[in-house]
Amino acid sequence: MLKDSQDLAVSTNSLEALNAINGFCEQLLSVGNNAEVSLKAVEADPVSTLANIYAAAFYLFSGTSDTFAQAVNYLNAAKTHLADANEREQLYLAAIDAWIKRDTQSAIAHHEAIAESFPRDLISVHICQYHYRNCGDSEGMLRIAEKVLPANRDNPYIYGMLAFGLEECHRLSEAEEAGRRATEMKRDNRWAHHAVAHVLETQGRLKDGIAWMESVCDTWESSNPAFYSHLWWHTALYHLDAEDITKVLEIYDTHIWGRARKDNGREQVNAISLLLRLELRGVDVGSRWQEIAAYLQPRLHEHVLGFMDLHYSIISMH
Ligand SMILES: [Fe+2]
Repeated sequence: MLKDSQDLAVSTNSLEALNAINGFCEQLLSVGNNAEVSLKAVEADPVSTLANIYAAAFYLFSGTSDTFAQAVNYLNAAKTHLADANEREQLYLAAIDAWIKRDTQSAIAHHEAIAESFPRDLISVHICQYHYRNCGDSEGMLRIAEKVLPANRDNPYIYGMLAFGLEECHRLSEAEEAGRRATEMKRDNRWAHHAVAHVLETQGRLKDGIAWMESVCDTWESSNPAFYSHLWWHTALYHLDAEDITKVLEIYDTHIWGRARKDNGREQVNAISLLLRLELRGVDVGSRWQEIAAYLQPRLHEHVLGFMDLHYSIISMH
């Protein structure tokens, strides 16, 4: 049995699959633009439970009904080979199964069990924080990061997770410190960039926020496109609060809708959210709503995530 980059056992004999699994871990934690490397792990070893589980997770993070359907295929493949899976992989399978069934509390319980027995598994912590956040459970986000911190003090990604948990619990100065530390340890630690962005926005430190984002934005070029869009959305909010509308529209046109994969739900959400904020301030956004509208009609009854549904419903007001 081989071990992955987190020093955890993986049920595969394929080095190619293991390399792809390690690649997925790095991509997910750094919010990179090549998380589909998880699919290469399945190609290299179709019977690997973890490879199939990570491929399912890759699709689930996209958060649309068609990607959920693709995730089910990988989950079913993982179930077929469950007898060969180790304890951690079996817990993962239960967690991802619960995610697909929208049973978030069950998913969280399984990720907590992984954190208890395998605290080096930061992919599981990352997914668990995602669920906690969607439930509005800020304490849960922080608690699971703190739980695995002692086992991961050498890993820059844990400090980004810790920073986000602290920020959501309004422990802002500690969050900023953890996020800046995470970025010093690894400059393209985009999850940490985001946590610090939240802190500076909450504190209304507009100049600090713009300076922070400009100091690291070159690393966003290799970000997951939806997160690229979201980081620029945060940057635009500072300019919006500073009432520099020309700059906000420039960011929207260049980095948000201008660069978006038009059919991607998360990128649509960033565009909608910024347009609405502009409009609430009385800004004439021209034909920008009309440019988005055609891509949103199919989403109106999708109902994958309440957060996204609320954004899609705004289009029906225009
Ligand atoms: Fe954010």
